[in-house]
Amino acid sequence: MSEEKLTIACIGMGVIGCGWATHFLGQGHNVRVWDPVEGVEERLNSYLDLAWPAMTELGLPEEANRENFIVCETVDQTIEGACLVQENAPERLELKMDLIAELDEICSSDVVIASSTSGYLISDMTQRCKKHPERVVVGHPFNPVYLLPLVEVVGGPKTSQENLIKAQEIYESTGKLVLRLDKEVDGFISDRLQEAMWREALHMVANGEATVEQLDLAITAGPGLRWALMGPMLTFHLAGGEGGMAHMLDHFGPSLKSPWTRLEAPELTKELRDAVVNGCEEEAAGRKVADLVSERDRGLVAIIKALRKSEVGTPGKGSQDGT
Ligand SMILES: NC(=O)c1ccc[n+]([C@@H]2O[C@H](COP(=O)([O-])OP(=O)(O)OC[C@H]3O[C@@H](n4cnc5c(N)ncnc54)[C@H](O)[C@@H]3O)[C@@H](O)[C@H]2O)c1
Repeated sequence: MSEEKLTIACIGMGVIGCGWATHFLGQGHNVRVWDPVEGVEERLNSYLDLAWPAMTELGLPEEANRENFIVCETVDQTIEGACLVQENAPERLELKMDLIAELDEICSSDVVIASSTSGYLISDMTQRCKKHPERVVVGHPFNPVYLLPLVEVVGGPKTSQENLIKAQEIYESTGKLVLRLDKEVDGFISDRLQEAMWREALHMVANGEATVEQLDLAITAGPGLRWALMGPMLTFHLAGGEGGMAHMLDHFGPSLKSPWTRLEAPELTKELRDAVVNGCEEEAAGRKVADLVSERDRGLVAIIKALRKSEVGTPGKGSQDGT
C-alpha cells in the first residue's frame, strides 16, 4: 500500500459508496462521505460490521482504521483535502451529468473525479462540465468493492492521459487491480460480459426454460469455479486440448451459429420481474441479505487465499499482501 495517507471523498453512500469507503478505510486512508439521505453514519457502520471481519481475515495493514471517516453535511465539505472524489450516485444519466458538473465546478483542477457508473460513457457524463473535464474518469468497481480487486478505468475524448495515470496510481496504491480500457465502450468490458449472460438467463426464466436456482447452479458448480482462475478465453483454450483455441474454434465454430443465444434484451414484464424476485427469495430460503453477504464473503476469502497461496489466477496479482 501507499506510504502516503490519502483523503478520499465518496459521494453517494449506497452499496457501492459504502464498499469504496470500507475499502479505503481498510487501507488506512481518510474518508469523507456524503449522501442526500439521512442515517449515513449508521448505514456505513452496519456495512463495516459486515465487511471488516472478512477484510481482517484477508489481512489489513496496521494503519487500517474503520473509524477514520467523516460524514459531511454538504458536497462542498466532502471534497475538502481530497485527491480523489469517487461518485456513486444512482445509475441515472441526467443525475450523474449534473452531479459531475457540480463536482467539476467546486474541485480544484488537481483532483481526480471518478464515477463508479456501470456503463455510461465519460463523454456523455461530462457534457455539462465547464471547467476541467480532462480529470473525469470512470472507475468502475465490482461488488463487494472491499474484496474484489478489479476496477475498470477509462476516460473520454477529453480525459488527459495524466489524469488516467493518476487515477490508476491512486487505485493501485490501495491494492486495486486496474483494467485500463483502450477506448470508451458502453458497459465497459466486464459489464458487457456479465449483462450478456444475465440477459440470456432472464430469457430462460421468461420462457419457463430454467428456474432461478438452476441458472445459478449452472454457473456456481461449473464455469464459475473456473472463472475465478481463468477468463472465458483461456478456459476455452484449455477446452480445445492440445490443439488449444485453434482446435476449439475449428471444432465448435460452426456451432456458434446454433440458436443458443438471443442476445436481445427480453421484455422486463411484471411477470418476469416477479418470477426472478420470487425465485431469489426461494433460493435464499429465509436467509437475509446480511447472512448471504457473510456466506459469500467467507467463500470469497477462502478462494482468494487459495489463489494467493498457489499463485495462480488473478486476485492475488497486483493486490495487497494479505497473507
Ligand atoms: N451495485 C453494484 O453491483 C454496482 C457495481 C458497480 C458499479 N455500480 C454503480 O455504482 C453506482 C451506485 O450504485 P449502487 O448500487 O451503490 O446504488 P444504491 O442505490 O445502493 O446507492 C445510491 C446512493 O446514492 C444516493 N443518492 C441519491 N441521489 C443522489 C445524488 N443526487 N447525489 C449523490 N448521491 C445520491 C442514494 O441515497 C443512495 O444512497 C451506480 O452508478 C452503479 O451503476 C453498482
